[in-house]
Amino acid sequence: MMSAYQKEFEQAKNNPEKFWEEQAKAIEWYKFPKTILQKDENGIDRWYADGQLNTCFLALDYHVINGRAEQTALIYDSPVTGKKQHYSYQQLTDQVARTAGMLADLGVVKGDRVIIYMPMIPEAVMAMLACARLGAIHSVVFGGFAANELAIRLEDAEPKVIMTASCGIEVQKIIPYMPMVNKAIMDSRWKPEKVIVLQREQCPAELNSNPGVEDRDLDWSLQLEKSMAHDCVPVNANDPLYVLYTSGTTGKPKGVVREHGGHAVSMKYSMSTIYNAKPGDVFWAASDVGWVVGHSYIVYAPLIHGCTTVLYEGKPVRTPDPAAFWRVCEEHHVNILFSAPTAFRAIKKEDPEGELIKQYPMPALRTIFMAGERLDPPTLKWVEQKTQRPVVDHWWQTETGWAISGNPLGLEKFPLKPGSSTKPTPGFDVQILDELGDQVPVNTQGIIVIKLPLPPGCLATVWRNHDRFQSGYLTQFPGYYVSGDGGYIDSDGYLFVMGRTDDVINVAGHRLSTGEMEEILSAHDDVAECAVIGAHDELKGQIPFGFVVLKDGHYSVDGNVEKELLQKMRDEIGAVASFRKVVIVNRLPKTRSGKVLRRTIKQVADGEQYVTPSTIDDPTSLTEIENVFNQNRQI
Ligand code: COA
Ligand code: AMP
Repeated sequence: MMSAYQKEFEQAKNNPEKFWEEQAKAIEWYKFPKTILQKDENGIDRWYADGQLNTCFLALDYHVINGRAEQTALIYDSPVTGKKQHYSYQQLTDQVARTAGMLADLGVVKGDRVIIYMPMIPEAVMAMLACARLGAIHSVVFGGFAANELAIRLEDAEPKVIMTASCGIEVQKIIPYMPMVNKAIMDSRWKPEKVIVLQREQCPAELNSNPGVEDRDLDWSLQLEKSMAHDCVPVNANDPLYVLYTSGTTGKPKGVVREHGGHAVSMKYSMSTIYNAKPGDVFWAASDVGWVVGHSYIVYAPLIHGCTTVLYEGKPVRTPDPAAFWRVCEEHHVNILFSAPTAFRAIKKEDPEGELIKQYPMPALRTIFMAGERLDPPTLKWVEQKTQRPVVDHWWQTETGWAISGNPLGLEKFPLKPGSSTKPTPGFDVQILDELGDQVPVNTQGIIVIKLPLPPGCLATVWRNHDRFQSGYLTQFPGYYVSGDGGYIDSDGYLFVMGRTDDVINVAGHRLSTGEMEEILSAHDDVAECAVIGAHDELKGQIPFGFVVLKDGHYSVDGNVEKELLQKMRDEIGAVASFRKVVIVNRLPKTRSGKVLRRTIKQVADGEQYVTPSTIDDPTSLTEIENVFNQNRQI
């Protein structure tokens, strides 16, 4: 007899239309779709094309109508400000409806873009849901990104309005946002009509301070006071809910487009199947609303499922100590905790024996989920042993919006294999191919792909760049989505994701592009050429390391070029790049045709066994790099 998982997996694979029609019944539609799956004019699979719904309605109003009005929808816990606030479903609905009214008063309508550049405060969640309520498309930009990153997104998304706050708070450091917003708007060819600024008492901002700007900036609270509640606007299932930019292989990030219908269905399905969450549970994704985990599992999925979600403005350590996670779990009766392995490594570093965990029994906590980077077995073991809770590794990407593989606790709990994110989620037909597109035998490493169609919720295209969607994901192996990750499947069907096969790196759970970093370094006047690799790091998983060759006749006096390059990266990407290591070298290892051997440099840096490529121009160049790296790894 087939197991519950096997049965569901096979159904989704063999008859995806029927399977996803059934799952669609779990949410309320204004118009239930007649067409479940069809190809669009570009040959892309689209879900629920003729359905109509509203994601904000599903996340809020639906629950108010159906008996959860008084249940807490959102808990805001902010050790950096000392604030804790609870919002019931009724209260959150009212606030979001007014925020939607505020946007509507500024002329925001269905299809308009709104950039949200905010710290982890309730208004960020309200802003996202308010956009969804109007059918406007939000694009959240992570608060750790600098003005240049914001400008790139402004130009691409062309928003009517930016919603921001006067500052973010990083442990004890105040990060004023308005200087970055002002600079981004000045540098961008696209100018938003309005900037709505939530003034925080820690650092109120001067509004309309850009030269030539008189009435662009508006005070959030004053605007809100004048606004009336706005109702949910029905949208088509294939209308975009949001565009979330993510790092690719080039300097320009990709705008992942997520559509209302498939997203809502996948969020609902994932809550029960993957997380085994029940409506009413307290769900805490310790991430940031600027990342996909924050979109899916701080905001949309827990609310659509009728859970209580926790919004935490703090760090796993230093706010104030490594007990922060356990304190929050205990105090708010968290049932399901989700974060990145790097967060637990930070806790482990400061409390290696887990002494602080013992002070918090956390009776409600059932399971700890991890994603964002590979869960290394020592971290897995430590968290399991110290918390005495099951730890589930699950693998996903901004592009998919939900887990491609995991341990589907709502169906069946599989025995754990350290290093594996267990089995493909029903709906994701994961296969491993070689460079020629042939399936590899079990236990053989290759390129991880997903056979089309992708299930509901995955990206429909890249914002205003459909060619990039096709060429980046679908062209290499026709009929498959290429994930960008490499790995293998073992004889029990367990998936092992071993790391990216492209220029994307993962620094403390933050997805960044070494290609973009190289473009920034290369733009420096003294730089002839460069290579940036993601070197292994005990805490952050990976850390960028730059090798730079200067132009003939250019010198670094007392390390001035290195300092300028480090500052340039901070100014252009942001502190979050954690770019602290750059060294000047005489040459880079290359093939005879002039291609920089980045993969081999990375192997050298990670102390891995490497085979000197037969095409290398001069094998001694690798030894040179190895020596330079070893001398500089501790800068
Ligand atoms: N706004 C402004 N600056 C930010 C920021 C934000 N939202 N997030 C990070 N930064 C800054 C930090 O202040 C730091 O600046 P500094 O160089 O001036 O000190 C820099 O970016 C690097 O930050 P980070 O990589 O986060 O390092 P950290 O030492 O502050 O914290 C961890 C390390 C592991 C505790 C932290 O990265 C973490 O909690 N990671 C989990 C990430 C996560 O949840 N990812 C989502 C996937 S589930
Ligand atoms: P992001 O788009 O920021 O979610 O980053 C996606 C990338 O993070 C993936 O392509 C993987 O390289 C990596 N990743 C996420 N989760 C896991 C996991 N559980 N195991 C291994 N790698 C992961």
